[in-house]
This record gives sequence, structure tokens and C-alpha cells, in this order.
Amino acid sequence: MGENEQRYADGAFSSNWVSTVGPNLGAFEDAFSRRMGVPSVCLSSGTAAIHLGLVLMGVGPGDEVFCSTLTFAASANPIRYQGATPVFVDSDRDSWNLDPQLLYDVLRVRAATNRLPKALIVVDIYGQSADMDPILEICGKYGVAVLEDAAEALGATYKGKPAGSLAPVSAYSFNGNKIITTAGGGMLTAHDQALADKARFLATQARDPGIAYEHSVTGYNYRMSNVLAGIGRGQMEVLDLRVQQRRAIAFRYRDGFADLPGISLMPQATYGLHTNWLSCFQVDASKFGCTRDALLRHLDSRDIEARPVWKPMHLQALFADCEVYGGEVASDLFRNGICLPSSSNLKPVDQARVIDAVREAAVAPMLSKEAAEVRVA
Ligand SMILES: Cc1ncc(COP(=O)(O)O)c(C=O)c1O
Repeated sequence: MGENEQRYADGAFSSNWVSTVGPNLGAFEDAFSRRMGVPSVCLSSGTAAIHLGLVLMGVGPGDEVFCSTLTFAASANPIRYQGATPVFVDSDRDSWNLDPQLLYDVLRVRAATNRLPKALIVVDIYGQSADMDPILEICGKYGVAVLEDAAEALGATYKGKPAGSLAPVSAYSFNGNKIITTAGGGMLTAHDQALADKARFLATQARDPGIAYEHSVTGYNYRMSNVLAGIGRGQMEVLDLRVQQRRAIAFRYRDGFADLPGISLMPQATYGLHTNWLSCFQVDASKFGCTRDALLRHLDSRDIEARPVWKPMHLQALFADCEVYGGEVASDLFRNGICLPSSSNLKPVDQARVIDAVREAAVAPMLSKEAAEVRVA
């Protein structure tokens, strides 16, 4: 937390505006809209924002929705909420995000057979924007609606513009692990004010105007509370600082491993600012000396919690019946990818301990049976 979150949240208590109406909500939305340059609606989660985005786009049963395969399941679950069918698309190696060339090739073939999807959910992974210009151009050409899942990329940029501000509809998350948090929460942004207004209406149970409780469409209870919006308001004030902190952590790791072969920071695309929300690395076991899994185990033995890169959606049992285009790049990034401790408040002394532990893994003889096998190979 920064300095003002508590004060804004206390204001909700002292004024008794603790529920889904109150001044923090307006102030948080205003601050967010100023930053993004588009209308914003506070919601209860990023997942709710993606779900409402699909509703706004008219996605329903029988539709197909393309989605980046390298992501967290929350990107794809709302496709199923709408009774639609997810179809997954691989990443490119240069950004780990959706591969625009592959998207183009697939949509060209799909158009020829009249099988175009209704929408695309393009994810900005681990703090880095996808290459939005070609993606928007291709989808525009084929009439495919685009929703940008910028849950992990708040604070990042693409060609000087805020990540998430490029697509007509975007979703952000303030879950506890994100670069800024409201304990739990999300934001939907829309270029079209009428769509943002509709999202607000749908998120508040779609109650028709008037004093009677009348409803003509299905609504949702997806609003954020004024208490949590107070936290969000304060967090917006420290967003740039958090971006600096996350980037500094990633680059300290990179420098700490500069002389080690076979371990490399997630690529930093030249088209924008990568927040490095999480410090992600690829491990090439044959050069590094042990596998990603052996490295995870070694860190665990030193009481350091690290995680694999997201398991792609096309490898999940949940989506086993779904079509996938490509998938080898995301599978490889998952198999060899590791997320190191990345909290904004990670102390340099603690980070030095992580760096030392990674360095031990690179040189320790026979960390595990698996490591031994790699060495023999
Ligand atoms: C890529 C991505 N999309 C969507 C979400 C969902 O956000 P929330 O947890 O706020 O529902 C998350 C994180 O939780 C995420 O990482």
C-alpha cells in the first residue's frame, strides 16, 4: 500500500458510503479514465470485466471466441459462461503474446470457409502489451471484435499509449497479486461511452429506470464497493512507482545472471514499456545445468517460492476438447519458464538470496535425477 489508501478507505467508513455507491468510485474511475484516455467502469473483478466485455460484444451460444493460449484461466472461462466455444492461438517468441502472423494466417483460411470467430480475447502477458496494431488491423479486416485482457499489464505502454487503451473494450484486474490491488476488483474500459454506460447498467443487475424493480435483460452483481475503490484510488497514485520497482527487480535478476548461460529474461519488445509485473525467465536446461523443474525444487529447498510460467489453455484438462492453432511456442515457454519472486516490496537483500540460490542451482552437481539426466544428455 501507498500513503493514501487507508485515508480514502477511512473516508468511506466515516461517511457511511461503504457499499456500491460513493465518491471513491467516481474518483477511482476518473483517475483511471484520465490515465487510459477512455471511459472506465469499476467492477468486482477482472474476470467480471472480461465476462461483461463479451456480453457487450454480443457473444453467445454457438459463437467461437479466439483467445491467447498462454494466459491464466480467467481469460478464457468467461467464453464458457456465455455458452460460446474457446479456440486458442499460440504466442510468438518475441513477446510471448499472441502471434499476429499466425492470427492472420488462421483468419484468412477461416474467412475462406465462412468460419470466422465472433471475437478475440488478446492477452497482455506478464506486464507486456501484445503487438496490437497488426492484431487490430487483421481483426478489423475480418470483422472480429477485440477484447484486450490487460489484467497483467496495467502501467505498460504500446507505441506510447497505455496498454489496454488500444482495443475497443479492455479488462484490468486489481487482484491481490497484481501491480496495484484493491484486495479484489477490476475495471472495464470502452472507447464508446455508450458501451461503458451499458456495462455499468449490466453490472448493477440491469435494473430499468424508475422506482419499481423492473428488469428487461439479464443483469449481474458485478460492482465494486466504495471501500475498495478507496484503496484503488490510493493505488493509482503509486502505479508509476510500482512499475519502476517491478522493472528494477527484473533487471537486478537479469544482471545477477548475466554471466550464467541458459537463463534469459522474458523478451522486452521494442514497441513499448514492459512493466515486468512478474520477473519471468526461460531456462535452457542443456546450457544452464538443470531443468526448470529442478530449479523450482532447489529454490523451494531454500524456502524461496517461485512458480512455472502459466500452463497454456490448450494443455488444460478443462479445455481439452478445444481447437488450438499452433501451441508449441506456449508449451515450450511453459515447460522452461519460471516466475521468480517479484513483489514490489522485495528487499534487495532478499533478492540477493534468490539470485544466489539460482546461481547455486546452475553449478550444483546433480541437483536431482532430472538434472543428472540433462547433464548426461
Ligand atoms: C491474464 C488475466 N486475466 C484475467 C485475470 C482475472 O482477474 P481477477 O482475478 O481480478 O478476476 C487475471 C488474474 O487474476 C489474469 O492474470
